[in-house]
Amino acid sequence: MWSSRLMFVLAAAGSAVGLGNIWRFPYIAGANGGGSFVLVYLLCIAIIGIPIMTSEILLGRAGRQSPIHSMRDLARQSGASPMWQLIGWMGALAGFMILSFYGVIAGWAMAYIVSSAQGTFTGVDAAQATAIFNGFIGDPFEVVAWQTVFMVMTVVIVARGVGEGIETAVKYLMPALFILLIALVVYAMFSGHFMEGVRFLFSFHRGELGWDGVLMAMGQAFFTLSLGMAAIMTYGAYMPKDASIVGTATTIALLDTLVAVLAALVIFPLVFANGLESSSGPGLMFVTLPLAFGHMTGGQIFGTVFFILVTFAAVTSSISIMEPAVAWLVERLYVPRKWAAIVVGGVAWALGLGTAFSFNIWSDVTILPGKSFFDTMDFVSNNVMLPLGGMLIALFAGWFLDAKIRNDELALSPGMFAIWRVLVRFVAPAAVFVVFVMTFV
Ligand code: TRP
Repeated sequence: MWSSRLMFVLAAAGSAVGLGNIWRFPYIAGANGGGSFVLVYLLCIAIIGIPIMTSEILLGRAGRQSPIHSMRDLARQSGASPMWQLIGWMGALAGFMILSFYGVIAGWAMAYIVSSAQGTFTGVDAAQATAIFNGFIGDPFEVVAWQTVFMVMTVVIVARGVGEGIETAVKYLMPALFILLIALVVYAMFSGHFMEGVRFLFSFHRGELGWDGVLMAMGQAFFTLSLGMAAIMTYGAYMPKDASIVGTATTIALLDTLVAVLAALVIFPLVFANGLESSSGPGLMFVTLPLAFGHMTGGQIFGTVFFILVTFAAVTSSISIMEPAVAWLVERLYVPRKWAAIVVGGVAWALGLGTAFSFNIWSDVTILPGKSFFDTMDFVSNNVMLPLGGMLIALFAGWFLDAKIRNDELALSPGMFAIWRVLVRFVAPAAVFVVFVMTFV
C-alpha cells in the first residue's frame, strides 16, 4: 500500500512521466506534422485517456491484486464472464513488448549521461551532433551494454518492492526534472526560433492529418499515460481508499501533458534554430538537446544532470511496466519477488535485443511491411494492444462491473457520475473503435 494519497499520485505520475513525454512525444508529433497531431493528441487525453485512467484505478483498487486476479474476481463478483481476465493477460504481453524497447532507449539516455559529462557535445554543430548519435546507435555492443545496465537497475528496484525505492526517487527527482525542463524552455525562448516552434506545435490545419496520424496520436495518449495494459490498475491496487479516483486521474493526466508540452517547447525551437528536420524520428531528442547543452554556459553539467533525470524518469516508468507481470508471478506461482523480477526483466531484455539491433546490424530487417523490429514492437503494442486493452477496460468498468462496487469506489456526485458514465460507457470505447475501423478497415 502507498503510504498516502500523495504517494500514489507521485508514483502514478512517475509511471506516466517518462521517455514517452520527453523522447517519444516530440518525435512522433514531428513525424506527423505538428499542430493537428497535437490537437488530436490532447483530445485523446481528455476524452479517452482520463476516463480510462479512472477505470483502471477503480478496477485496481476494487480488486487489490495483480490485474489478472483482480479482473477474475471482479468479473465473478459482478456475474460477468471469466474471459475478462484476458485484459490482464493481454496487458502482460503488451508490457513485455513495451519494456523491451523502453530498456533500449533508456540505455541511450544513460549513455548520454557519460557523453555529456565527458564534454563530447561542447561546441558541436547540428551535423556533428547527428554524427555522434548515429555513431553511437550504430554500435550494437555499446547499445546493448547500456540496455543491460538499465534493465538491471529496473530489476533491482522491482525486486525490492514497490514502496521505499519508488517513493523516494519520485519525490525528489521528478520535481528536479520539471525545474530543469522549465530552465530549458527559457533557453529555447532565446534561440530566436521559439515562436516558430510554438506555431509548429499549435497551429491546426484541417485535412493535414490522416487516420493513421490519428491512430498515432491515440497510441501516444495511451503510452504516455501508461494506460491499456493494467499498469495503472496495478498501482491502483496499492492506493488508499480515501483518495478521489477522478481527481487523482485528472491531476496525473495534467501533469503528464504539461511535461510533454514543455519538452516539445524545448525541442522544436532548437530544431528550427539549427536547420534540423522536425520529422527525423527517434533520434530527435538525442540530437537537439546536446546541441543546446553544447552551446550554453555550464552546459556540460546541465546536460549531465538532465540525462540523469531523464534516466530516473525512465526508471520510475519501467518499474510500472514490469510490475503487473511480477505481481502475477508472485501471487500465482509463489516465486520470490526477486526471481519474478529477474525472469520478467530477462525476457524483456532478450526481446529488446531486436530493438537494439534495429539501428545497426538489423537495420534492413522488416517484420511488419516497412517496419523494423523496433517499429513493429512500438506499433503493435502502442497503437493496437494498448487501445484495445483500454477499450475493454472501459467497457468492463462502464457496463459490467457491479454497481455497488463501482459507486463505492468512485464516490462521485450525481452530476459528475453521469458525465463519467457517458465517457466510460460510450465516448472512450467508441472513439477507440472508430479510429481502429478507420485505420485498419
Ligand atoms: N508512460 C510512460 C512514459 O511515458 C511509459 C509507461 C510506463 C507505460 N508504464 C506504462 C506505457 C504502461 C504503457 C503502459 O514513458
